[in-house]
Amino acid sequence: MAGKIFVTRNLPGRALDRLSERYEVEIYPGDSPIPGEELLKKVKGKDGLIPLLTDKVDKAVMDRGDNLKVISNYAVGYDNIDVEEATKRGIVVTNTPGVLTDATAELGWALLLTCARRTAEGDKFCRQGKYKGWSPTLLLGMELQGKTLGIIGAGRIGTEFVKKGSGFGLKTLYSDEFRNEYLEQEFGAKRVKLETLLREADIVSVHVPLIPSTLHLIGERELKIMKRTAILINTSRGPVIDEKELRKALKEREIRGAGLDVYENEPEIPKELAELENVVLLPHIGSATEEARVKMADLAVENMLAALEGKRPPNLVNPEVFRE
Ligand code: DGY
Repeated sequence: MAGKIFVTRNLPGRALDRLSERYEVEIYPGDSPIPGEELLKKVKGKDGLIPLLTDKVDKAVMDRGDNLKVISNYAVGYDNIDVEEATKRGIVVTNTPGVLTDATAELGWALLLTCARRTAEGDKFCRQGKYKGWSPTLLLGMELQGKTLGIIGAGRIGTEFVKKGSGFGLKTLYSDEFRNEYLEQEFGAKRVKLETLLREADIVSVHVPLIPSTLHLIGERELKIMKRTAILINTSRGPVIDEKELRKALKEREIRGAGLDVYENEPEIPKELAELENVVLLPHIGSATEEARVKMADLAVENMLAALEGKRPPNLVNPEVFRE
């Protein structure tokens, strides 16, 4: 066998079988994130590593993985990897974009509708035997027709989110470093400054990667700018929102509600947040469809195979490192 690969969790589908035909593949057998100490042991002598977004691949891991040539992340986001350090060492880093766009955008809508129409509260209400009959004022929510949707980050997922919601009669604003002509032409979206978006949107949905400039992009000031009736959705990365400030804003009803799939210190969900009624909490399942997770595994393996064969992998994060 030409090389050794360590995978930090078994992945859905058959992709890992394809990898095993060519390489010696070791898969961490646990059903929870591999402890850091264990990863340090396992990475030694490996040519390739397929980590999950929960695995921190930092300098220490790379020091121990002194033979490491490829890190093929099983996620589109790669904030779990010290890419700069990998690049310095000539290690190829790849990710899995595109294949989870639909799944994540769909989940964003699930959160949005759950918040706007209070369906999680309604479900709980029914199960608790509280439904005693139709009422003109029971669980009144927010109608979407005619409201303004604000997208922070108009990349793949942000764009798909707008597209999927195009039947709801929303006006769309977006803020992004780059102009998105597709959104403007197809959906009449208007590019505005973040502050304008926060002031005008009834629903704010976050779709940016976690990089130094997006850490706490939404903090106390931004939450105060938002309408008191607005809903905030986050399916990107937890630290993009200052969770402590969000908690305060929700508690003091400075915004109507929030739908969160991601948290600042996953898997920790602060008790104070979980106690609030105007927040919907999901356990980072944006890409959790059978289709997306199988395709993510296919892509992670495809990237790994290409890079180990010296070819340019389809989803290269650090092109500086790649020499054909
Ligand atoms: C990713 O791939 O970055 C997503 O967060 C997984 O759901």
